[in-house]
Amino acid sequence: MQFLMWAVEFLLFTSFFTNPVSSQSETPPGVCSGSDRAALLGFKASILKDTTGFLSTWTGADCCNGGWEGVECGGAAAGRVTRLILQNPSLNSDGVYMKGFLSPSLSKLQFLEIMVISGMKKITGKIPESFSNLTHLTNLVLDDNFLQGNIPSSLGHLRNLQTISLSGNHLTGQIPTSLGNLKNLLQLNLAKNFLTGPIPFALNSLRGLQTLDLGLNSLSGLIPGFLGQLQNLTSLVLTSNKFSGQIPISLCNLFQLSELSIDQNQLIGRIPTQIGNLKSVSVLRLGTNKLTGQIPESISHLQNLWNLNLSRNLLTNPLPDFSRGLPSLLSIDLSYNNLDLRTVPNWIRFRELSDVHLAGCKLRGPLPNFTKPDSLSTLDLSDNYFTNGISNFLEKMTSLQGAKISNNLLNGDLSSIRLPNQISTLDLHSNRLFGSLSRVLSNETNKFLEVIDLSRNQISGSIPEFSGGLNLKVVNLASNKISGHIPSSVSNMAKLERFDISRNRITGTIPTSIGLLMKLQWLDLSINGISGKIPESLLGIEGLRHASFRANRLCGEIPQGRPFNIFPAAAYAHNLCLCGKPLPPCKGKKEIKMGQ
Ligand SMILES: *[C@@H]1O[C@H](CO)[C@@H](O)[C@H](O)[C@H]1NC(C)=O
Ligand SMILES: *[C@@H]1O[C@H](CO)[C@@H](O)[C@H](O)[C@H]1NC(C)=O
Ligand SMILES: *[C@@H]1O[C@H](CO)[C@@H](O)[C@H](O)[C@H]1NC(C)=O
Ligand SMILES: *[C@@H]1O[C@H](CO)[C@@H](O)[C@H](O)[C@H]1NC(C)=O
Ligand SMILES: *[C@@H]1O[C@H](CO)[C@@H](O)[C@H](O)[C@H]1NC(C)=O
Repeated sequence: MQFLMWAVEFLLFTSFFTNPVSSQSETPPGVCSGSDRAALLGFKASILKDTTGFLSTWTGADCCNGGWEGVECGGAAAGRVTRLILQNPSLNSDGVYMKGFLSPSLSKLQFLEIMVISGMKKITGKIPESFSNLTHLTNLVLDDNFLQGNIPSSLGHLRNLQTISLSGNHLTGQIPTSLGNLKNLLQLNLAKNFLTGPIPFALNSLRGLQTLDLGLNSLSGLIPGFLGQLQNLTSLVLTSNKFSGQIPISLCNLFQLSELSIDQNQLIGRIPTQIGNLKSVSVLRLGTNKLTGQIPESISHLQNLWNLNLSRNLLTNPLPDFSRGLPSLLSIDLSYNNLDLRTVPNWIRFRELSDVHLAGCKLRGPLPNFTKPDSLSTLDLSDNYFTNGISNFLEKMTSLQGAKISNNLLNGDLSSIRLPNQISTLDLHSNRLFGSLSRVLSNETNKFLEVIDLSRNQISGSIPEFSGGLNLKVVNLASNKISGHIPSSVSNMAKLERFDISRNRITGTIPTSIGLLMKLQWLDLSINGISGKIPESLLGIEGLRHASFRANRLCGEIPQGRPFNIFPAAAYAHNLCLCGKPLPPCKGKKEIKMGQ
């Protein structure tokens, strides 16, 4: 019997050699090994809910040629599963997932070479120890599930492994020393977990490693110097951990390295001058550490560098003149150091750059004149001392998507500011802007604008009418001198999530139409002169998490329903005569008719 099976398998193997899975031929389908089929069904049984639809195709006897989604059988081992590839087709949709456990039965797929089960979001439980029986495994990819527990140290037995990728889970404990046995490993990605402890010294034997991503964990200790001996590294990402000590000079020997991201740690000391030896580096992220001293001039030798991010350190003057170097630079962030730049350096103003972030660099005087304004896509000049030049500053930046120039001393008429067409985020809060909103916020506001923060200025005039088709999500006009009524056309901002007009001089009543803003989460009308009732229509906004009506001239019963009667009483304090939960009950439920 067994012999017969082999004979059949052999025949099928030879006839299906080219592409057994998608063969359209008339020959009977290949026979899938019973034990492999059982192993797969064991996995299926431990998935309690599958909205990807993949596992519903796992029916029938033949797991190799029977249309089992994600299952492939191999050339050399006929009828044996060699690949299991289940990737969520719509990672961004909450409704598409697999829920359940990762069954150890998969460890019986003796010939498995590639296991990819990724983006399933709700597969929980541990990575089974028994996966160490998958001796043919070259790729183990279990990203973006909900796996828990430690990384099994038994994975160190899988000598053929080239790729381990376990990012985006809830894994805890330390990185197992045994991974140092995996001499063939090329990619190791353990990012976005809850791993602790140091990078084990044993990893120094992973001499062929090409990418190492340990970002977004809680790893600590020094960045080990031996990483500088892993000559084939092209990407080293240690972002957002608790690494301390200095940047090891040995890292500067990694001539193949194209990305070095060691930002958001607790690194101290200077940036090594040898950094200029990283010939291939295109992305250099050292931000959010405690690095001191000057920015080394040698950075100008980095011919491929397009992204330089040194923000949020303690780096000091003088800033080297990079005008003859960095030919590939597109994105620069030097924000929040101890730099005292006074003016935007010419080598930045004259470049064709896409991101310029120089927040908190003690810049002063008029806003800079960029020679290639149309290349800019994001600009952050906040927390400086710029005084003027805002009127036609932004208009020329025709590719601009986000601009932040908050907390400066900008003096200018808001109604003279022309916005570029594509802009989606504009933050000008805490300046000295005056004039009216009519140009920035009107029925002619561009459809791309989603976030606008003009709070803490001297803006006057009234809130303009809004037409339909706007995509505004966040409108912050707090702490200005805006007067007049809230137009009932605010309801045309159908996507509005946050609306803050607190601390102004708004009068009139709250338009009933606000209740149509179904996406609203945050509503602040406090400290104005608004009168009348809080309309019952507001009860229709289900997602509202914060609302304040404090210090107005409102009167009548607070809408009695969640969330209005569970907001704190302070949200209603200092009004004319509001009543009902959370305030004391209304006296005889006397209705005060106002303005009807
Ligand atoms: C590996 O497989 C062998 C034989 O099928 C079995 O006895 C052993 O328990 C398995 N190992 C693990 C760790 O499950
Ligand atoms: C590094 O890569 C080169 C070229 O791909 C390869 O020949 C060499 O064996 C690799 N080094 C190690 C230690 O694996
Ligand atoms: C620079 O890095 C910091 C983290 O250190 C990040 O928050 C910031 O967005 C980065 N800047 C740019 C322009 O990407
Ligand atoms: C900005 O550049 C334009 C054109 O080159 C020039 O006319 C203008 O005077 C410059 N403004 C400042 C503030 O340097
Ligand atoms: C915007 O409103 C003004 C006055 O309310 C009107 O004259 C203008 O035609 C409107 N523009 C658009 C594009 O609707």
